[in-house]
Amino acid sequence: MSAAPSPPPELVTLTVDGRAVSVPAGTLVWDACEKAGVFVPVYCAHKKMDPVAVCRMCLIEVGTMPKLQPACATVVQAGMEVRTATDRVQRFRQGNMEFLLLNHPLDCPVCDRGGECDLQDFAQRYGPPRSRTAITGKVHFDKARPLSDRIMLDQERCILCWRCVRYCDEITGDRAIVLQERAVHTVVDTFEGRPLTGPFQGNLPEVCPVGALTHTAYRFRSRPWDLQRTPSVCPGCSYGCTVGIDSRDNAVVRFVSQDNPDVDDSWLCDRGRYGFPELNRQDRVLTAELSLEGPVRAVGALEAVGAAARALAGVLERHDPDQVACLGTPQMTNEEAFCLQWLGRDVIGTPHLDHQLEPWPDLAPDEFRLAIRELEDCDTVVVLGERPEAATPVLTLRLYKAERKRGRQVLRIAADADPTELAGRVRDRGRVGVVAHEADRDRARAVATALAAANGSVHRLTLTEGMNGRGCKDLGLLPGLGPGYRRLDRAGMHGRAILAAAAEGRLRALVVVGPNPEMEQDPAYEAAIARVPLVVALTPVRGLLSRHAQALLPGRTMAEKQGTVTSSEGRVQRIRVALQPRIGAPPPELRLLVELGRSLGGTWESAPLATPAFDVICDAVPAYRGTRGGLRAAWPGTGGAA
Ligand code: SF4
Ligand code: SF4
Ligand code: FES
Repeated sequence: MSAAPSPPPELVTLTVDGRAVSVPAGTLVWDACEKAGVFVPVYCAHKKMDPVAVCRMCLIEVGTMPKLQPACATVVQAGMEVRTATDRVQRFRQGNMEFLLLNHPLDCPVCDRGGECDLQDFAQRYGPPRSRTAITGKVHFDKARPLSDRIMLDQERCILCWRCVRYCDEITGDRAIVLQERAVHTVVDTFEGRPLTGPFQGNLPEVCPVGALTHTAYRFRSRPWDLQRTPSVCPGCSYGCTVGIDSRDNAVVRFVSQDNPDVDDSWLCDRGRYGFPELNRQDRVLTAELSLEGPVRAVGALEAVGAAARALAGVLERHDPDQVACLGTPQMTNEEAFCLQWLGRDVIGTPHLDHQLEPWPDLAPDEFRLAIRELEDCDTVVVLGERPEAATPVLTLRLYKAERKRGRQVLRIAADADPTELAGRVRDRGRVGVVAHEADRDRARAVATALAAANGSVHRLTLTEGMNGRGCKDLGLLPGLGPGYRRLDRAGMHGRAILAAAAEGRLRALVVVGPNPEMEQDPAYEAAIARVPLVVALTPVRGLLSRHAQALLPGRTMAEKQGTVTSSEGRVQRIRVALQPRIGAPPPELRLLVELGRSLGGTWESAPLATPAFDVICDAVPAYRGTRGGLRAAWPGTGGAA
């Protein structure tokens, strides 16, 4: 976005435990300590929320000030002398811990937070060596009370840090959690005892520094030291939130958020966070199956690839390549999508290939020139209809932040609103962002054009469907557009037209990579693929596709493979192997697709591994060069690499 560069911030130099450190004016002492490499314990402070300084855990000495000061709420001053480890500070921390533990239950052994609890850790590091309170003298509160079907509250474990209350105020705005009663009887609860209903509940246990708020789905499932942790990307939609996939005994037990300030800002939506059971599905395609010449028989994956290639070659000898089509899925990696379009266009020679049902005319990288983070820098953000936020829920939190913390105007309008009437509703003339779902691409363009005439600088962000709908488009898994949005002479059929041709008996063979939930839920899908004489399918799960395939190849879930995916804003991020394939498991999908193409006479330059395949992509689509490390593709005129 063409924002005027802001002047460099004025730097302030102070000392922390004798170490000089320079930070921008306005920085909190807590952040300055972190920059100086000095750890200060906190409970109520949170990087994404305003300070309230209620827990007193972070008190430190400052210069000659007579009282200890909260590091989380004190702003640095030039020449300030901060001392974090004096006897006075340590005595205070010990006393504070004693208060916090006064009525805390002794249930660490059965608490889901055990092993990753700040109360447990700080009690060991800063607390008194023994308790002076009798166990029988503790005040008791409610334990294990469901706040919804997702979140459990244990009021006894709460240390009243207010983080959950502030999260519901500052981050989601639903004010669903409140503090009730007074003094030692103060408790956290939902507003008027109503169950939580919001779509961002799953962030609460991560916000809570202790085991007071926990995930129902994770209760008694694991200890942190038993987990394998794999950084990856949420497969729930095209927003591209960074997740940690935590697994145990080769099954995913939870998704945890990882702060990516450019994308998720450390929040996940519940649909994404609690969608992990999909990766543990038991109805898997684990071996290849052939039914080309008789009853179904299990065979090795590479044997099945060879048989599928011979069957496809037979079709191509007798029929025009136009009678063959390829269907992918926006859940494919970039490497797989690029490979499937190579197999379809270059090897089989068909123009009919797609990854979605509906055609989206006039696709161009200009539709995602606006980055997610830049929404906060727009003077006005116009959101078309409900579909963008329904498709990519964490977008709602970014819009709320832009509105609440940055004072920006967020204008939600009907998707079919008259663009010419909009200009008068835009509060300030300046930078305008237009956010739309891809189904409203043409309307978004009309709105942007109308606003540009009145305001000047207007950029668009178009939200695509599926984890990698953007990558499939970027890499040409579409009719009529090659890799890099290159217009082709031959315009093929889009997804729905392919299904119609199949249903009418005009297709002799289909190569399908699944699962594709959008297509498989369509009433026309099953009848269409059932009419095609040869279906070569590659899918990790059983369903319509596996039932109708004559050559069925076993696929992998996103937790079992590596590769890259591209989010709606054009950010290219890496997914990694979180669940190890069993010994003797079939090769990854990319290798099977490459072998299928090679068996049909195609030449694939790269070794069949994700990293070299990415180099092949970069040669075909130069915008992808320089995206390593999770950067945006640099399309001409879009800025990119942010
Ligand atoms: S429930 Fe957790 S986040 Fe909420 S006030 Fe208590 S300790 Fe803090
Ligand atoms: S917004 Fe999308 S990517 Fe982010 S957590 Fe939700 S489903 Fe996952
Ligand atoms: S972290 Fe500073 S007062 Fe709570």
